[in-house]
Amino acid sequence: MSRLRVGVLASGRGSNLEALVKAARDPMYPARVVVVCANRECPALEIAKKAGITRQLFALSKYPDREARDRAMAQLLQDHGVDLVVCAGYDAILEKPFTRRFRGRIINIHPSLLPEFAGTMDAVAMALEAGVTETGCTVHVVTDDVDAGPVLAQRRVEVRPDDTVESLRERIQAEEHVLLPVLVKRIAGEALPLSI
Ligand code: GRF
Repeated sequence: MSRLRVGVLASGRGSNLEALVKAARDPMYPARVVVVCANRECPALEIAKKAGITRQLFALSKYPDREARDRAMAQLLQDHGVDLVVCAGYDAILEKPFTRRFRGRIINIHPSLLPEFAGTMDAVAMALEAGVTETGCTVHVVTDDVDAGPVLAQRRVEVRPDDTVESLRERIQAEEHVLLPVLVKRIAGEALPLSI
């Protein structure tokens, strides 16, 4: 079985990366993470290291500008024959040459029911502040417009009256860890690029 080759972009804890890595331990899972890129030192890089996955730090300070950084990142992904790029807690905006090079081949996971609370790294706190009774997580195709590409799948999470940002985030992330591997599996069975 030829497995979908996944490149993960991350900036943080890496729990979504970990969920994908765990899913891919099953030899029947139709995808595997072949490379991890980060824009800062972060636990996600450690997770990649432990799993024996090629990883690289692309600190903006090492490049003349964002476009050059994204170009270097794109090259590494291409060198590893990546079919699908997964933004899993990647907190930088991808420059247009990158999104165009991987058009229909980049997905992102966002902690809200998009289009609600789009374009922010604080979607969980915003949902709580807004007083909504339900929020969740979304996987969508990445386009040039932040958090605005076609929605592929969502999972809902009830907001409880006693929720804090931390408790709500924890329950949303638990749903993300289910959603992302399921969706990557689904994509592996479909034709790429995804339609935008
Ligand atoms: C996730 O909640 C994701 O929705 C958001 O950033 C968080 C990343 O968490 N984009 P992790 O690094 O995968 O643990």
